Amino acid sequence: MTLQRTPEPEEAHRIVRAWQAEGLSVGFVPTMGALHEGHLSLVDASVRGCDRTVVSIYVNPTQFGPGEDLKEYPRRLERDCQVAEQRGVDLVFNPGDEQMYPDGFCTYVVQEGLAQVLEGEFRPTHFRGVLTVVCKLLHIIPADRAHFGRKDFQQTVVVRRMARDLDMDVDIRVMPTIREEDGLAVSSRNEYLDAGERQSAVCLYEALMEAKRRHAEGDTDAARLRLAMNRIIGETPLVRPDYVEIVDRETLQPVETVTDRAVAVLAVHVGETRLIDNMPFSETG
Ligand code: PAJ
Repeated sequence: MTLQRTPEPEEAHRIVRAWQAEGLSVGFVPTMGALHEGHLSLVDASVRGCDRTVVSIYVNPTQFGPGEDLKEYPRRLERDCQVAEQRGVDLVFNPGDEQMYPDGFCTYVVQEGLAQVLEGEFRPTHFRGVLTVVCKLLHIIPADRAHFGRKDFQQTVVVRRMARDLDMDVDIRVMPTIREEDGLAVSSRNEYLDAGERQSAVCLYEALMEAKRRHAEGDTDAARLRLAMNRIIGETPLVRPDYVEIVDRETLQPVETVTDRAVAVLAVHVGETRLIDNMPFSETG
């Protein structure tokens, strides 16, 4: 099938409903574009598991805070559509702000608790923007399955919670983090790093792996593991952490003792660029 493409919500909705009326299952991958292997792993999972796959490409302004990188965020729609077509995507939905936030727009999805910790503390309006746009996207594209990357761990937790709380009829799938050879999680924001910063950026992965290694050797003391992670980050030039934590995978609250339910999470500025990463202490975590 050739790739279809539309910025119009009604048109995208109609196409998806027509597929479903034929008995076809529909998978969805919401993105902000500048597609890389992380995004494409979600596309591959959707193409494998569903009859039709929809990718949305929309740099959502409401999830960026003042002073964040909304203006600089990479945009390359033509290349994204080519790559999407090659990987078997059937429909690209690429709305503009006029479609997503028309004049008079004033309704938002605000989540308490889960969305206020970790990223929420440093980016207080971020998840309000993410949940609002994901909720809208899932109404426009009423997919059977929606695919999210483990890389944005807190995002997967808050999106799952929203789907449950608001009775959204969609199966949320979370796929593993795709990494560069040295372990750095693939991200559109890696493009902002200069050579020195790129070298420093591997400290996120190294810190997470150090915690995982110590835990595998039998250390379950979260404070000690946190200290070990902070030491690695502290010894790296050009970096400044926002948080380095070990939290419960469902409540996102810090733990004292590391069990299989725990996840190490961190957010670190490398130069001007803010990177996040995480690592479960069990494979299923
Ligand atoms: P974006 O950053 O473009 O990411 C789109 C999806 O790709 C997210 O589910 C993200 O977790 C996943 N992803 C990114 N890098 C990944 C990697 N290295 N490995 C695996 N998956 C990866 O996340 C967003 O956009 C937005 O918040 C969005 C959900 C689209 C709402 O605007």
